[in-house]
Amino acid sequence: MKPGPSPFGRVTLVSAATVLALALAGCGSSSKPSSSSSTTTPGSTGTSNLTPDSFTADFSAMAQLKSLAGKGKGLVGVLLPDTTTSTRYESYDRPYLTQAFKAAGLSNAQFKVDNAQGSAQTMQTQADADITNGATVLLIDAIDSGSGAAIEANAKSKGIAVIDYDRLTLGGPKGRTYVSFDNVNVGKFIGNGEISCIQAWKVNKPNILIMDGDPTDNNAKLFAQGYNEVLKPKFDSGAYVKVGEPAGTWTPSITATNFDQQFTAHPNINAVVTPNDDNANAVIADLQRQKIPPKTFPTTGQDASLTGLQNILKGFQCGTVYKPITAEAQAAVAVALYLRAGEPVPPALLNGTTKDTQTNSEVQSVLLTPKWVTADNINATIIKDKWVTPADLCVAAVKQACTAAGIQ
Ligand code: BGC
Repeated sequence: MKPGPSPFGRVTLVSAATVLALALAGCGSSSKPSSSSSTTTPGSTGTSNLTPDSFTADFSAMAQLKSLAGKGKGLVGVLLPDTTTSTRYESYDRPYLTQAFKAAGLSNAQFKVDNAQGSAQTMQTQADADITNGATVLLIDAIDSGSGAAIEANAKSKGIAVIDYDRLTLGGPKGRTYVSFDNVNVGKFIGNGEISCIQAWKVNKPNILIMDGDPTDNNAKLFAQGYNEVLKPKFDSGAYVKVGEPAGTWTPSITATNFDQQFTAHPNINAVVTPNDDNANAVIADLQRQKIPPKTFPTTGQDASLTGLQNILKGFQCGTVYKPITAEAQAAVAVALYLRAGEPVPPALLNGTTKDTQTNSEVQSVLLTPKWVTADNINATIIKDKWVTPADLCVAAVKQACTAAGIQ
């Protein structure tokens, strides 16, 4: 992945002409022929100054897309993967995507958000239904790259534009756009968060179990790339011991079994790295059953779930990667509305490219900025953004920790 402007380094801006060509290829038969000047954005109604930083928590950027929404035709179908590997899909992605579509002026009949409940077959059926109902754009967060690529190839063959949402579908069609966070950086936050926690909690001789996400999700590979890169010098120097890295999963019950087996075989494990709050919670439940005291056994996570945040306040999780899905949803809807109107995605919105390792090609991308959240900055991030309310967060065992963290 080659992420965009600071803090992630190099910008890979694709020229307007290339973007136009890519977008037209993505739109297939529904797209308009290129205008005589390929360096301008035809009829983009003054919205081409949107950048990845435009998408604030008040959704105000969406109003700029109203005339574009009026210009486009057909349904935007959103395909979300499941409800069990993260609370994000139903608690954040669905409502924020819905809010973004509505703020841009789409009616309820012009977009549809489905959740495949973990079944690739169900996602295929939902995609087919969207196509029957006149979809011109599909926004896909695939369960795995193989099933996602089949849905995308079929859509492409029918002239429907495709956006990879959050997860890159390896082997997807040429000309698609990817909207996500900088996922290698997500992994680096996790690795660095583990290191600072090991120091803060004074863990002597860290023996770390690395518990990756599902290997069929390209994001899991990018997260692992990030945290393994950060932790490698510690393992190489002998400061930390890597106890193991069992086959990855996003399923918390499998994580629970894996952790239990590993902890029984290696009772010296005293830290876990995982890129998901629900997987961390499976580990933490085991630690609590075994009466391991707080602030002695670092774990990590991602998604800023309510449970993850409570585990942080309880001293069982060091931190979580907070990805403001308000921004991801708005960016995806903005891209969808350009494609639906048969227009290229404005270059200023595309701040990076991401490698599809299967087709060995770069996919134009909008890559947003994640944050590492610990007890010290929950108040200044999560609470300030109204991601969760203090009333929901500060219950029972975490009441005192909330007060200590200045949350009220
Ligand atoms: C997402 C994470 C999520 C995980 C499990 C990843 O692709 O980026 O936010 O925790 O899938 O659903």
